[in-house]
Amino acid sequence: MNQVENRKVIVVTGGGQGIGKAICLHFAQRNFDIAVIDKNFPNAIATAHEAREFGVNAQPYECNITNSKRVSETFSQIHKDFGRVDILVNNAGVFFRETIEESTDDIIDTLINVNLKGMLFCTRAVIPIMKAQRSGNIINACSILGAFPDFGLGVYGATKSGVAILTRVLAAELAPYGIRVNAYQPAVTDTPMVHHIIVERPESKLSQIPLRRFGKPEEIARLVWFLTSEEADYITGQVIPCDGGIWSVQRPMEPWIRAGLLPKKE
Ligand SMILES: NC(=O)c1ccc[n+]([C@@H]2O[C@H](COP(=O)([O-])OP(=O)(O)OC[C@H]3O[C@@H](n4cnc5c(N)ncnc54)[C@H](O)[C@@H]3O)[C@@H](O)[C@H]2O)c1
Repeated sequence: MNQVENRKVIVVTGGGQGIGKAICLHFAQRNFDIAVIDKNFPNAIATAHEAREFGVNAQPYECNITNSKRVSETFSQIHKDFGRVDILVNNAGVFFRETIEESTDDIIDTLINVNLKGMLFCTRAVIPIMKAQRSGNIINACSILGAFPDFGLGVYGATKSGVAILTRVLAAELAPYGIRVNAYQPAVTDTPMVHHIIVERPESKLSQIPLRRFGKPEEIARLVWFLTSEEADYITGQVIPCDGGIWSVQRPMEPWIRAGLLPKKE
């Protein structure tokens, strides 16, 4: 399983579906070797299998990122298998909608353990590898709800604003070693995580988005491609929205009505 042809290596957590899977396939198409981490092993295997169709080395790793010991073992194995790690995407995350009063211990623990602690465990595990290389990119998954919080999404939003803070601090701490750290900030991107929202109440969401459509996982993958490329060499510590402009103005549908593309409200 050793790295061949000096291909660069990307590790993606939560690579078994949704945004993580799109990132794996985007980079596989562009000749990266891929390490797919997911707690859902059959999905990780499926992503690795699809990635290999582009002629690269892609391996699945079963790992629940909330388990610090398992995370260290997994990154040691990845380092052994591929010899280097150029990019880590801390993408795995969970989403629960509940008021703070109604949030159970389980909901609070799971949100904090996966979204914050898991991201920290994976980052801690990759830092020595990237420091030794004197190069690397770390990309974190934030959320619009970490920047503009909403009713029932306080705990989720707090974990994502925590990730935004960690992105900035990590960027400063790792800059001397040639490692850049940035984050993507999606709004409603059509993945298994939020598909139910898109199906159940499309118009209420669409009417908040100036571009009037939902995001595609590939659009986040393209942002990750840019942020980790040489084109973005002077960008670090940033959280970049990729969200169709959601919540940027109070009446995003007004221009659509004026353009005759939506009916006037009575
Ligand atoms: N889809 C959106 O609209 C949206 C919006 C804002 C932020 N995000 C963030 O983007 C990231 C990806 O979201 P998505 O929509 O693709 O989600 P998703 O639920 O479709 O996929 C998440 C993946 O992470 C894996 N995962 C979850 N917990 C894990 C754990 N403890 N250990 C290992 N793997 C684990 C899941 O098995 C799954 O494969 C998340 O961090 C999410 O919070 C998504």
